[in-house]
Amino acid sequence: MDVRVLPDREAVGVAAADLIDAAVIDRSERVLGLATGSSPGPAYAELIRRHGQDPASPYRSSHAFLLDEYVGLPPDHPERYARVIRREFTEAMGIDAGMVHGPDPDAPDLERACRAYDAAITASGGVGVQILGIGTDGHIAFNAPGTPFSEGTHVARLSSSTRRDNARFFDGDPERVPASAVSQGIATILRARALVVVAMGEAKAEIVARLLSSDPTEELPASALHLHSDVTLVLDRSAARRV
Ligand code: GLP
Repeated sequence: MDVRVLPDREAVGVAAADLIDAAVIDRSERVLGLATGSSPGPAYAELIRRHGQDPASPYRSSHAFLLDEYVGLPPDHPERYARVIRREFTEAMGIDAGMVHGPDPDAPDLERACRAYDAAITASGGVGVQILGIGTDGHIAFNAPGTPFSEGTHVARLSSSTRRDNARFFDGDPERVPASAVSQGIATILRARALVVVAMGEAKAEIVARLLSSDPTEELPASALHLHSDVTLVLDRSAARRV
């Protein structure tokens, strides 16, 4: 795993945007894997600054696949990840809403919807570059500790620590954070051709240190990243403090 430590959030955004541009512009990748949460924010802002106004930007002809989606929020809820990603990234990048795909959390048969989502990713040619954050318990997407690495997209229960962490998007109340989500599995994520993982801030220092010193183990979902040959971990100084 390639590890880069940058002085601050803005520099992390620039470094992550460089890696995503390398995939989309230099390697002509046309399928993006997008994460929500606060970690990718500076990278999205930098990509919007570079390409948002360019009608010929290759991003405009790219497909985007979301990592995960809450189950149980009404379709117009502002925290539905499909809405978050449009608001924070794809709209400003000029990516048509029809090119942005997410797991369907309202399907009557969720298991079937999960299989359909994995099939749609495969049919697109597969994700060329995936941006990822890490939860404080080591989760990636919503794969909590103990999730088998072999799982594809599936219905995931959110741990109480993840619901607490995400309460800031729900008026500070963990009870209002949905208890489950549809999430790409580790196996889905590892099929992306390149992974750009972002962690920032003191709160991530411990999990980043654990990740870097750990062998792949299902007890630490992010440790599966060691099994991939093209992963860059982009850190700010605070997140790298214990490395
Ligand atoms: C959420 C998301 C993850 C995200 C993680 C970290 O639960 N499902 O995809 O990476 O938490 O979030 P943040 O970047 O806000 O720290």
